[in-house]
Amino acid sequence: MKIISVVGTRPNFVKIASFAKEISKHTEINHILVHTGQHYDEKMSGSFFKELEIPEPNINLGIGSGSHAEQTGKVMMEFEKVLLKENPDLVMVVGDVNSTLACALTASKLGIKVAHIESGLRSFDREMPEEINRVLTDQISDYLFITERDAEKNLLNEGINKNKIFFVGNLMIDTLLMHKEKASKLKTVKEKNYAVLTLHRPSNVDKKENLETILEIMNELQSRIKIFWPIHPRTRNNLEKFGLNSKLNTMKNIILSEPLSYLEFMNAMMNSKMVLTDSGGIQEETTVLNIPCITMRENTERPTTISNGTNTLTGLDKNKIRKIVDSVLNGHFDKSNKVELWDGKAAERIVNVIKNEKIN
Ligand code: UD1
Repeated sequence: MKIISVVGTRPNFVKIASFAKEISKHTEINHILVHTGQHYDEKMSGSFFKELEIPEPNINLGIGSGSHAEQTGKVMMEFEKVLLKENPDLVMVVGDVNSTLACALTASKLGIKVAHIESGLRSFDREMPEEINRVLTDQISDYLFITERDAEKNLLNEGINKNKIFFVGNLMIDTLLMHKEKASKLKTVKEKNYAVLTLHRPSNVDKKENLETILEIMNELQSRIKIFWPIHPRTRNNLEKFGLNSKLNTMKNIILSEPLSYLEFMNAMMNSKMVLTDSGGIQEETTVLNIPCITMRENTERPTTISNGTNTLTGLDKNKIRKIVDSVLNGHFDKSNKVELWDGKAAERIVNVIKNEKIN
């Protein structure tokens, strides 16, 4: 059996790490890894391959940055050539980025079976590019691997056949559990009491007013606790473009950093008092690490992080954020429950399904 797995961006690398490791144990499966090149900086890409011991991609499409149509279109054109040459039995895509949809669409048009990892998550917010990618990828996938139970309901509501859905757990959590101990030995942040901040959602960082509001919120927060902020390139570019760097530079309790490696970032989260973010994956990671998570979005596609985990949605509401910060700093916050099947065995389950389904 020949399988092509596709990665493009930072969170994809984290998810594929445990899968690539598991599938390498099955020598009867020929596994080819394709990197679309959507993320390309050493700090956004290369360092993840090294630290997570992901095999070097067999093929790099070298797409790089661009508008949505440019990125999606270029990936499709280059990936089609790869598929025609390699003729795999299955294409495996992960998550919800432009590379995910582009490769799923290319494969399905060539009649090649598609597996989607992290299927069925829905924010019900069509303004998020990721939501469009999720809905469309699921519609054309043959094997839909889900990380939480609500995802099944979402897929059934969209008319997906139940037989195609497999509840297998969470690859991102497999990778976390595999590397937690190693990460705990680092010391990314010298401070003892600090919060971690990450921001990269277009709805937060591509609009000047919203980025300004976030800086106001951070200005207040940094008077109460130090803030450690590894800045995503999209956000760094926009701070510059909107002329907000001088405002940021006046906030002496904000510690800025370049994007971190996987282990460095994991360590920063593990030792923090709380995390403020607009990321999807970090809502899940903080739930497993039992660190309070303030999600500066109006919705989440990962509801189990709220019902079982440490996550609270605040949008950019200053009062809501203040209230949670108060309770965390006063030591009152609800610990997380164990989330069903987030046990480090998702990759094993996925490979079992692939083998049992006799895809080729
Ligand atoms: C993409 C995904 C998003 C995911 C995020 C993880 C889409 C639509 N978005 O968003 O779902 O949560 O990755 O980080 O697929 N840049 C660099 N170096 C890099 C990569 C990007 O400097 O290695 C800069 C470029 O200026 C680029 C910008 O960051 O234009 C945005 O990159 P892009 O991949 O388009 O989107 P992300 O915001 O990273």
